[in-house]
Amino acid sequence: MTVTELFTPPAAAEQPVEKLVIRRPDDMHVHLRDGAMLKAVLPATAGQFARGIIMPNLTPPVTTSDMAADYRTRVLKAMPEGAEFTPLMTCYLTDRTDPDDLIRGFEEKIWYAAKLYPAGATTNSAHGVTDIDALSPILETMERLGMPVLIHGEATDPAVDIFDREAYFLENTMVKILERHQGLKVVVEHCTTEQGVALVRSYAPRVAGTITPHHLYLNRTSLFQGGLRPHFYCLPVAKREHHRLALRKAATSGETCFFIGTDTAPHLRTAKESACGSAGVFCALTALQSYVQVFDEENALPRFEAFASENAARFYGLPLNDGTIELIRKPSRPLVSLPVADVDVAVFRGGEEFGWSIGETRV
Ligand code: NCD
Ligand code: ZN
Repeated sequence: MTVTELFTPPAAAEQPVEKLVIRRPDDMHVHLRDGAMLKAVLPATAGQFARGIIMPNLTPPVTTSDMAADYRTRVLKAMPEGAEFTPLMTCYLTDRTDPDDLIRGFEEKIWYAAKLYPAGATTNSAHGVTDIDALSPILETMERLGMPVLIHGEATDPAVDIFDREAYFLENTMVKILERHQGLKVVVEHCTTEQGVALVRSYAPRVAGTITPHHLYLNRTSLFQGGLRPHFYCLPVAKREHHRLALRKAATSGETCFFIGTDTAPHLRTAKESACGSAGVFCALTALQSYVQVFDEENALPRFEAFASENAARFYGLPLNDGTIELIRKPSRPLVSLPVADVDVAVFRGGEEFGWSIGETRV
């Protein structure tokens, strides 16, 4: 140690932030479902977010602008009293998507993006796209419109190991799409790998990536911690620890190409705790508390607002939300589960003590 160092007065201890007041955030990847489930889970999302990109993988899937308009009406009808939440609908792409209807729905602001599920990649994706090359005319139309395509980036070949499916798809299919359609706006949905965040960075700003709260917490070992944990099972499945760390770094980096997409995907407990359990984590109730904890742990709280409330709006060309929400450094213990139709849905990290609480929303 030098003399100067010895005599440098210690830096004043930084006061921890006690309260963060941010512009109201958006969730760019939400499964709201329908019927009783919609009614039960919507308050969780509407309680945290101003807008949500609503996934179209219902049964049957939302493939036409009329279906999307009807679904939006059902969402608005299920809205809890006093909630200020705008559902932004999406089109489920199939091998038979009608380009005229796609254009009409976008121009009339019925939907804001289209979702590309490779057929068989995940829950209710059986009607998804079987031949991505044949989708080219639709993607060209979207490129012209400036309409984002939201891609579930996983290979569907059963011979590809499930933990490699994202990286494999990115390398073999995503890059092809991006090179073929050089002006197309693409969201790499729920990034779970180092390769995912690297690809997003290298094609930004016309490519962006959403990151879920659970993939910031879980690695593939978490799925087996003390026994099989069906409520941590989702697609894409959580990967090795170094991937989780890369996601935390990307989310908290301040890079504008990353934003919130919780992929909150509720399933009844009976469907999860089963011999062949459904994929999906219901994280809507604990999303902001989880994200803010990560930013806190990574010393990145000043960068949280951009990740939560600005980057997505800019990417989609939407106005920034008015109004604010408070996040307070105060312990909270969210519900363990949400009752739905005589059963319940397990809440991600429900019942755990969180270091942060949700405060007031001002609209
Ligand atoms: C989603 C669902 O349940 O609809 N499941 C999931 O594991 N994330 C579908 C999806 O987004 O892949
Ligand atoms: Zn999803």
